[in-house]
Amino acid sequence: MAEAAGDAHAGDESTRRDFIFIAAGSAAAVGAAATIWPFINQMNPAADTRALSTTEVDLSAVELGQQIKVMWQGKPVFVRHRTAEEIAAAQRDDFANLKDPQADADRLIQEDGQAGQPEWIVLQASCTHLGCVPTFAEGSAFGGWFCPCHGSDYDTSGRIRRGPAPRNLDIAPYVFTGPTAIRIG
Ligand code: FES
Repeated sequence: MAEAAGDAHAGDESTRRDFIFIAAGSAAAVGAAATIWPFINQMNPAADTRALSTTEVDLSAVELGQQIKVMWQGKPVFVRHRTAEEIAAAQRDDFANLKDPQADADRLIQEDGQAGQPEWIVLQASCTHLGCVPTFAEGSAFGGWFCPCHGSDYDTSGRIRRGPAPRNLDIAPYVFTGPTAIRIG
């Protein structure tokens, strides 16, 4: 009888211990979740950070045959309004002997995968040799961009045609947000 009472007492003890153990485990899980949440939340870029990583560009004042240079994430980007002649030259040379072969239309594809508009090309303004900023037309035998540093010559699609640069001018990621507006980044 005394033994039975002792067993019952032992059962109470073990139940109390289990409860304490479970309660402590639950508190630890809540604590861990509370610690992880601010960490995860920090990994979502805030809206103002996202805004800094993109550049909105109004193209309405950029005449045919003109280009503007805008800054995106601290780097210069050319947005060129190409003439019919520049477009024709770029498309004709899709089949030329290119160092870094790429069709002109492929260089206009927007960030969302939609086709671009042949009149507008958006290029990172950095020579792929050593990073100088090329100039348009002056000195280019291909009617495009010429890098004065070591003579890399790019065509009207920004493809490398002559000189030490190893590859085409990089396309900046962009999308049209209106008939005459783009967002870069
Ligand atoms: S940096 Fe442009 S050719 Fe060298």
